[in-house]
Amino acid sequence: MKKILALVLALIMCLGCVAMAEMVGVSMPTQDLQRWVQDGENMQKELEENGYEVMLTYAANNVAQQIADIENMITKGCKVLVIASIDGGSLGAVLKTAKENDVMVVAYDRLLMDTDAVDFYATFDNYKVGSIQAQFIIEKLELETTDKTYRMEVFAGSPDDNNARFFYAGAMDLLKPYIEAGKLVVTSGQSDFETCAILGWGTPDAQTRMDNLLAAYYTDGTFPDLVLSPNDSLAMGIANSLEQAGCPIENFPVITGQDCDKANMKNIIAGKQSMSVFKDTRTLAAQVVEMVNAYLLGEEVPVNDVETYDNNVKVVPSFLCDPVFADINNYVELLLESGYYTEDDLK
Ligand code: BGC
Repeated sequence: MKKILALVLALIMCLGCVAMAEMVGVSMPTQDLQRWVQDGENMQKELEENGYEVMLTYAANNVAQQIADIENMITKGCKVLVIASIDGGSLGAVLKTAKENDVMVVAYDRLLMDTDAVDFYATFDNYKVGSIQAQFIIEKLELETTDKTYRMEVFAGSPDDNNARFFYAGAMDLLKPYIEAGKLVVTSGQSDFETCAILGWGTPDAQTRMDNLLAAYYTDGTFPDLVLSPNDSLAMGIANSLEQAGCPIENFPVITGQDCDKANMKNIIAGKQSMSVFKDTRTLAAQVVEMVNAYLLGEEVPVNDVETYDNNVKVVPSFLCDPVFADINNYVELLLESGYYTEDDLK
């Protein structure tokens, strides 16, 4: 009996050692945006706490750099790659090498497109992010009951990021009936995804587009009532543009966002942004580690969606975490009391 117990113990320890010895590569797109820095730090922390060795890289939004980072991870012997891509469709060749080397590939937050060499996808429910933004607009402007007409402008995310179309669809599917009913009017007439998309998600590019819209369509000194923005980096550019164009704070349009970046939470407190969507990167990191653990132990990997995320080659089994609405009324409980930020962070 003792012998059997000792054997079982040795086996458990041995399995533990295998997991502990594994090296995991975490490839993040950029350090320019707060969220990715937090994602990288949380992933590293969670993985190390689970006994993995971690190679963490940021690619300065440069695709060639991201490919080089991933090649290096494979060469150094990483058994798992967690990748938040810059351009989801640009990593086919290096992912093929990963597959040939039996490396597990997890698409992190953004789907890896046009490849069969991606095993799993961990993200937030991206369509729901857009729905939350639209629902906020519908309630804030009382679109159900109002007989007013509101002037709006539409922004969309980077076209090389698969998420961007989900955010757009999630919001526009809910707003379309109000546009068709004439309660919302897109003053510039620019509402299709391609025209409204900001390649690379850059704040300065969003600012420039907003400057151009104001200069072309709001020449009488008025401002839109509503700007649909898919995330915080664009919301920041939009707010900067309006402020520089002299939009009084009390006339600031309803502006949506996503990520609860510190600078944007400060804007929400100051009345220069209306809401954001909180995607707790701690939750996503913990989920990915659970998936990695299960995979390396040969157990069933936890997923909750096997239908939505088709990358043009396969439907990638996914785990979708839940995004949460955030605004001036709930940020204290949601972000401060939960320990995500300190009060000083938002001063
Ligand atoms: C992420 C967003 C982020 C955006 C820009 C998207 O893929 O899901 O959270 O705001 O990229 O970095």
